[in-house]
Amino acid sequence: EVWNPSGKYRVVSTKSMPGTRWIRLLTDQDCRVEICTEKKTILSVEDILALIGNRCNGVIGQLTEDWGEVLFSALKRAGGSAFSNMAVGYNNVDVNAANKYGIAVGNTPGVLTETTAELAASLSLAAARRIVEADQFMRAGLYDGWLPHLFVGNLLKGQTVGVIGAGRIGSAYARMMIEGFKMNLIYYDLYQATRLEKFVTAYGQFLKANGEQPVTWKRAASMEDVLREADVISLHPVLDKTTYHLVNKERLAIMKKEAILVNASRGPVIDEAALVEHLKANPMFRVGLDVFEDEPFMKPGLAELKNAVVVPHIASASKWTREGMATLAALNVLGKIKGYPIWGDPNQ
Ligand code: DGY
Repeated sequence: EVWNPSGKYRVVSTKSMPGTRWIRLLTDQDCRVEICTEKKTILSVEDILALIGNRCNGVIGQLTEDWGEVLFSALKRAGGSAFSNMAVGYNNVDVNAANKYGIAVGNTPGVLTETTAELAASLSLAAARRIVEADQFMRAGLYDGWLPHLFVGNLLKGQTVGVIGAGRIGSAYARMMIEGFKMNLIYYDLYQATRLEKFVTAYGQFLKANGEQPVTWKRAASMEDVLREADVISLHPVLDKTTYHLVNKERLAIMKKEAILVNASRGPVIDEAALVEHLKANPMFRVGLDVFEDEPFMKPGLAELKNAVVVPHIASASKWTREGMATLAALNVLGKIKGYPIWGDPNQ
């Protein structure tokens, strides 16, 4: 699909993206926009090489693609200078390789913070109240009347929410769980989440002033402290060498037997095979997963487990956010081509 065929700068998008604002932004600035219409979901390096061709100024790519040496050198040869991931995460991008070829790299932070946090909160609730299990039960025609034991789950109020990685998304999630369900907070991050701490303190004072039990917060000295103490734990680190299999067999073992673990960051942060074994051995332990170690696949056994809620990497999938991500990705590429500042720059 080609927009503004006579445009001076050739910009390729490896996928169709929501909305048309991002296309207009580019075509208004003399770009010819080519959107790949290939039906297969994940493009190979060869597919993308063909899209880059001999002349290409910039590419908007997706987190399912492997942006490394081969693609950045090809983009350079084609006269390109800009690449943007349509994602905040960029573990699929070799930024050093991009730097080596003088290709600017962009990502799309900010616009997906609340949407992603809302999904992590949804998974927390779905796991706590066994929503998916109960839905399947209804659809299977198994409901034959109210029972005291039917789908009894966990009450969140007064429990402790644990956040590992209290950056933009982790902090937004924490606020939702604290304000929405009056949970106490324990978090682990290399940096102090000062704004989040101020919020919990003020909210705790507000509750107290209204005669309610105040919420509390604690910055944990180690990740283990969060795993040991929290009732609901949500993972929000970036994926790199230091966070690969951050949650492994040993760390799962120290969590409460009835804890809930949520992951809307990146799959490899959890050792998924170890998680499957843990879920099998601990039926009261529940998990809400948006991401998987070898997407699009799940580790054997996971799909059969009732104590797992699984969704297909949709944390940022609200219309507003996806259109915003597309717009920022286009702005990143346009910024480099035209010499404007880049919105999301992982090098900064
Ligand atoms: C991201 O942006 O990194 C998410 O995983 C997809 O929105």
